[in-house]
Amino acid sequence: MSGESILILGIESSCDETGVALVQSDGNSMPRLLAHALHSQVEMHQAYGGVVPELASRDHIRRVLPLTSHVLAQTGHSLSDIDLVAYTRGPGLAGALLVGAGVACALGAALDRPVLGIHHLEGHLLSPFMSPDPPQFPFVALLVSGGHTQLMRVDGVGQYELLGETIDDAAGEAFDKSAKLLGLGYPGGPALSRLAERGEAQAFKLPRPLLHSGNLDFSFAGLKTAVLTQVRKLGEDLKNHQADLAAATEAAIVEVLVNKSLKAMEATGLGVLVVAGGVGANRKLREQLGQACTKRQVRVHYPALELCSDNGAMIAMAAAMRMQSGIQPASRHYGFDVLPRWPLDSIERPA
Ligand code: KG4
Ligand code: ZN
Repeated sequence: MSGESILILGIESSCDETGVALVQSDGNSMPRLLAHALHSQVEMHQAYGGVVPELASRDHIRRVLPLTSHVLAQTGHSLSDIDLVAYTRGPGLAGALLVGAGVACALGAALDRPVLGIHHLEGHLLSPFMSPDPPQFPFVALLVSGGHTQLMRVDGVGQYELLGETIDDAAGEAFDKSAKLLGLGYPGGPALSRLAERGEAQAFKLPRPLLHSGNLDFSFAGLKTAVLTQVRKLGEDLKNHQADLAAATEAAIVEVLVNKSLKAMEATGLGVLVVAGGVGANRKLREQLGQACTKRQVRVHYPALELCSDNGAMIAMAAAMRMQSGIQPASRHYGFDVLPRWPLDSIERPA
């Protein structure tokens, strides 16, 4: 495909956001994001305090085609201009993934175009390549989302080595569960972070699980229990200390993430760190990582703020980069499957 420009449609539907995007790739230079559109189901799930998988799937069905029409209209393209349809194959909620996979394969079959199933976390970790100042391989990636907390060594597209990961809750989950205990609703991460700005982190002493474990693994379940203990102790008085407890929770999560990221930089000897996934939007994390990395001459890259959480752009981008790196991926086989559990370091590598 070298020199020939192709148009890639990307569809993301692994959890509670339907994302669709168009990326153009000429096979040589950095693929270009032409347009992306997103529908967040957050409001719908809020009433239940968390994602309801069946409702998520049904809403993806309602949103995916209108979003596709929207990105096509935005760029002046029609369906027949699409050369490749990429979709999130996993990990994620099975029913939600099946919607994106089903629509992508139906479009592929109808248009007689190849399809490509993408790993959701590969999408996240390649998303900073859409920014004006993209990172250079090799780098360490800190993947921090609602379902995953991992440190990866990334030597190139498809070349991922797991350095460490959470043994229980993910960082996003720790934010969400603590926020729920503080009465902040779902998803709690952004709300807890906003509240924390008015609080005093030193007001509560919370644990930093596995901080000195000597490896690059994380654990956040104990932190949630410690927050619960404080909430119970405070009882009615919680309302007077809510911001302080939010600040202490955020400080504990951020300290562990920063500390382990620095240890990963030391262990690998690399000088570039990529932070991706929803928690990568956290202001405190960006601030503290920024300070710590500047001191050690480590460059930190983030995706644009709007591309930190789930989106279709990262799926189309990952497809474009996989095509460019010569992994023979796209297929005209339209009998799809999804992989709700799928380790990133097990995906296909370049030949
Ligand atoms: O990557 P993402 O959008 O979805 C998954 O693949 O899980 O990440 C969502 C997670 C949620 O747990 C959410 O609370 C958290 O990212 N999050 C934040 C912030 N924005 C999103 N956590 C802390 N601070 C934020 N500003
Ligand atoms: Zn995600």
